[in-house]
Amino acid sequence: KETGTVTYDPGFVNTASTRSAITYIDGDAGILRYRGYPIEQLAEKSSYVEVAYLLLHGELPTAEQLATFEGRVSRHTLLHEDLRHFFNAFPSDAHPMPVLSSAVAALSTFYQDTKEPFHEDVVDQATVRLIAKLPTIAAYAFRKSQGLPTVFPDNSLTLVENFLRMSFGFPSEPYELNPIAAKALDQLLILHADHEQNCSTSTVRLVGSAHTNLFASISAGISALAGPLHGGANSAVLEMLEGIKAEGGDVARFMEKVKNKESGVRLMGFGHRVYKNYDPRATIIKKTAHELFEKMEIHDELLDLALELEEIALGDDYFVERKLYPNVDFYTGLIYKALGFPTKMFTVLFAIGRLPGWIAQWREMINDPETKIGRPRQIYTGSGERDYVTVEQR
Ligand code: CMC
Repeated sequence: KETGTVTYDPGFVNTASTRSAITYIDGDAGILRYRGYPIEQLAEKSSYVEVAYLLLHGELPTAEQLATFEGRVSRHTLLHEDLRHFFNAFPSDAHPMPVLSSAVAALSTFYQDTKEPFHEDVVDQATVRLIAKLPTIAAYAFRKSQGLPTVFPDNSLTLVENFLRMSFGFPSEPYELNPIAAKALDQLLILHADHEQNCSTSTVRLVGSAHTNLFASISAGISALAGPLHGGANSAVLEMLEGIKAEGGDVARFMEKVKNKESGVRLMGFGHRVYKNYDPRATIIKKTAHELFEKMEIHDELLDLALELEEIALGDDYFVERKLYPNVDFYTGLIYKALGFPTKMFTVLFAIGRLPGWIAQWREMINDPETKIGRPRQIYTGSGERDYVTVEQR
């Protein structure tokens, strides 16, 4: 509500920008719930598509509602042929995140519904299209970056299976799906599905508050997610671990660098604005990483380095005093790598996971009678009034 006074709050650390009934976080107790359901239960028992339904509609679907939703999503996985050509316009070494945000923004040119952008049917159709098409766009961006042919979706598969096939399969060849990999990826997508008013979600809401359509709002969210302090952290963690390995694996020396703030080096995958004891997603992911590596019989030296870093940090005053713990991104990169994805793709996978949350938040925003266009204030620090001086006199 307007109070007439302006509060200075850099990074909006203490500003609640909205009311929301979607996700509950207790940062001190390490609690995360979607629509009241603990993340631990959803990660173990649910599926990504079911969680998407839950976030969007507020309730878990019945078997019939789930089948209908899954059926609608699988019918929209194909991209328009003109949009497929889009991928050829980028340089072959293009990072897939800007390709993703550009292609999603472009969807609004393919689906220019004549009704209002906030009409219930328009929003419902755009929701299904986005959930169905983002994995296809992501897989096409990936294949393009590898110089490989695109693989059309196979709608007899689940969303996650389809995505793995489009990413790693070959046209007209049977794809041997690894169920352990599919399960791990599904779980990771669930863990990323929403996280209340983080940077990208706030971006989606802010852009949407100007009555911008859903596709363009989500595209803006993808751009925000691409930053290394947000979704880009999962790739940064892997680059950090590879860097430590390349320099001889001296974890203790690296930690000294992190603690010397002048070095500007941060321990990527550590610290969180809200979680100040532990990130419940990190606890689940650490377990999944171990199980996956064991079942797939993978030995990755980077996992050993990560465990060593974590152990040192948890016993070091610098990290303890600042309440810095592993966040969701500390172990995810190692899992994505084990599944066969290059570092460049990690944030794209985060985006697929976060999509249902962004949409649910956007929908909550447009249906909230208290919504106003987002328009923060500022504290002006520039010069006082002064007279213009012509260029000859300067
Ligand atoms: N390594 C070393 N020092 C750190 C780190 C870190 N990862 N994170 C915070 N600090 C220090 C920071 O220097 C500051 O110290 P001091 O009080 O002496 O100035 C103190 O801890 C508080 O840090 P902050 O930057 O004020 O905290 P924040 O709430 O603004 O930032 C963060 C949160 C996640 C951006 C930050 O912890 C960070 O940069 N972490 C590394 C990047 C990362 O892993 N990001 C993923 C976040 S989770 C997934 C997502 O949101 O996408």
